[in-house]
Amino acid sequence: MAEGGYPSVYVVDSCAPCPQVPPRVSKGQRRATAAQTLLFLLVSVALCGMAIEACFIYRLYQRGSDTSASFSKIIAGKDITPPTTRPSVVIHPSKPVAHLTDGQNVVHEKHIMAWSMDADPLLYEMDYKNGSLLVQKEGFYYVYSKVSFLDTEIFYHSIELKTKLYVGKSIPLLMSREYPEKISSKMRSNSYLGGVFHLHRDDALFVKVSNSSKVRRYRSFENIFGAYMI
Ligand SMILES: *[C@@H]1O[C@H](CO)[C@@H](O)[C@H](O)[C@H]1NC(C)=O
Ligand SMILES: *[C@@H]1O[C@H](CO)[C@@H](O)[C@H](O)[C@H]1NC(C)=O
Repeated sequence: MAEGGYPSVYVVDSCAPCPQVPPRVSKGQRRATAAQTLLFLLVSVALCGMAIEACFIYRLYQRGSDTSASFSKIIAGKDITPPTTRPSVVIHPSKPVAHLTDGQNVVHEKHIMAWSMDADPLLYEMDYKNGSLLVQKEGFYYVYSKVSFLDTEIFYHSIELKTKLYVGKSIPLLMSREYPEKISSKMRSNSYLGGVFHLHRDDALFVKVSNSSKVRRYRSFENIFGAYMI
């Protein structure tokens, strides 16, 4: 009003807020609806996330129970879950493998050790017969054995090979000899043998000891014999 040229502008200005009032309100409403939409979206996203998470947890749980079942199969040598419920979970090794243990029912020969078939041993593409592991597939194998024994006299422990290439005699692959120095101080001892060998089909591996009566048989897993293709 003080400046001559501006009243018209003031009029315009004074009039300008009048029509602008409704848009302001609608802007607020828009904001409110936008906030609502945003909130709705956020809640939806959170719910979706929870659903996906639940799915992942369920799948992990399923996988976890599967692996624990197969683990227990390998360790205990027994399938706890009936095979009818999960036929697809049976896992085979990729190469021939055998792991044998001692057992209550096992009767050793004087020099050649026998191994338990009641313990449901791990035997894949290898056979067991009369104390011997029989090779089915030619290849390089890691062969091992561990025995626990009473160290009161000289004790030999060896892994022997019977092959068609040398008929009649077995070939010692690995051997350890224990000489007791002080009988009173060292009564119990262990021998572990392990090495890699090229084996042919129908080769037979067995564990020989100087006196199987000296072998300690407190627990079945104290005396073991095994082989696996590398
Ligand atoms: C088992 O092996 C032992 C020692 O090699 C042998 O004396 C015995 O005759 C074999 N028994 C059978 C049934 O083959
Ligand atoms: C084998 O060990 C048993 C038990 O210690 C003993 O009575 C027997 O004389 C041993 N046999 C030989 C051939 O050393």
